[in-house]
Amino acid sequence: MTNIAVFASGTGSNAVNLVKTFNSGSRIHVALCLVDRENIPVIEKMRELGVETIYFPRSVWKENPQAILEVLRQHDIKLIALAGFLSFIQEDIINAYNGRILNIHPSLLPAYGGKGMHGGNVHKAVIEAGESKSGATVHIVTNDIDAGPIVVQREVSVLPEDTPESLEAKVHQVEYQIFPEAVIKTVATLTPPPAPKSVDDAWAEVLGVPNNVPPVPQNFTGSVPPTGSTSPTGLTNPTGLTNPTSPISPAIPADPMPPTYLVWSVIMTILCCTIPGIVAIIYSAKVSSKYYQGDFEGSRRASQNAEIWIIISFVLGVLSSTLYLPLTLAGLF
Ligand code: GRF
Repeated sequence: MTNIAVFASGTGSNAVNLVKTFNSGSRIHVALCLVDRENIPVIEKMRELGVETIYFPRSVWKENPQAILEVLRQHDIKLIALAGFLSFIQEDIINAYNGRILNIHPSLLPAYGGKGMHGGNVHKAVIEAGESKSGATVHIVTNDIDAGPIVVQREVSVLPEDTPESLEAKVHQVEYQIFPEAVIKTVATLTPPPAPKSVDDAWAEVLGVPNNVPPVPQNFTGSVPPTGSTSPTGLTNPTGLTNPTSPISPAIPADPMPPTYLVWSVIMTILCCTIPGIVAIIYSAKVSSKYYQGDFEGSRRASQNAEIWIIISFVLGVLSSTLYLPLTLAGLF
């Protein structure tokens, strides 16, 4: 959150616009309004909007800028917006807020700026000069009146039928656009946006778990120590997650299934099937020999035994190939 202050001396429509723009959910907050006159409309408007407003007499603005700075410090003010403020800003304040005081002026500066050029005087001078365009400017306040670097400037056209009042109304509409824009632009230069969070950090925040475990090296092949245990290098695993780079840790090993699984599976299947397979072949051979010897009963029993051993061979083959899978995943082979 960036706290800003507005300084105002009159109607305060720009001050109100800044409060309405920023004080409902943005990262910028108008936390304070300072005024240099009593009984001006802006005081009541700020009270209605809930913005703390403090009046300092002109003598304080002139002779005791440290009192102003102290109030700004207490409210942690990072930027000042002069919204129709008519008192002179002392050098101490300008130096303390170097480049962080913005002023809005109702003309296309540098035209129609300087001493005495404020409010209706500006619009009257523009009309009298027969200008075809005017506008508004937000600039950084320096020790030279209306001469600091321009932050945002926008034009309006001046029509032959325009009066100082109608021109003022048009310029005000543009001011309501460019003043918030200039504040955002300037605040952005003061507080660089936070570095984007990594996906891991974001998940760790969502799940409420720490994400301060060192990442697993790319060529990591060992197992992760259990929760709270300490490795020989002195590193601990406080989360108990099997993959510290991700708060949601799948129980699947990082490496693909080793190719040796297939070889072992084939060997085990052959070994398991060989003995019952040989027995089945022997009984199969007996079936025909017994038959041609005329021992039909012996041939029938040999046939039954051959069937049984073929089934035994098949079942062992299936078991040896499928039961080997969990053993492989458990890392026993
Ligand atoms: C604005 O026109 C601004 O440019 C000038 O003073 C006027 C203030 O108007 N500095 P408001 O008090 O904000 O209505």
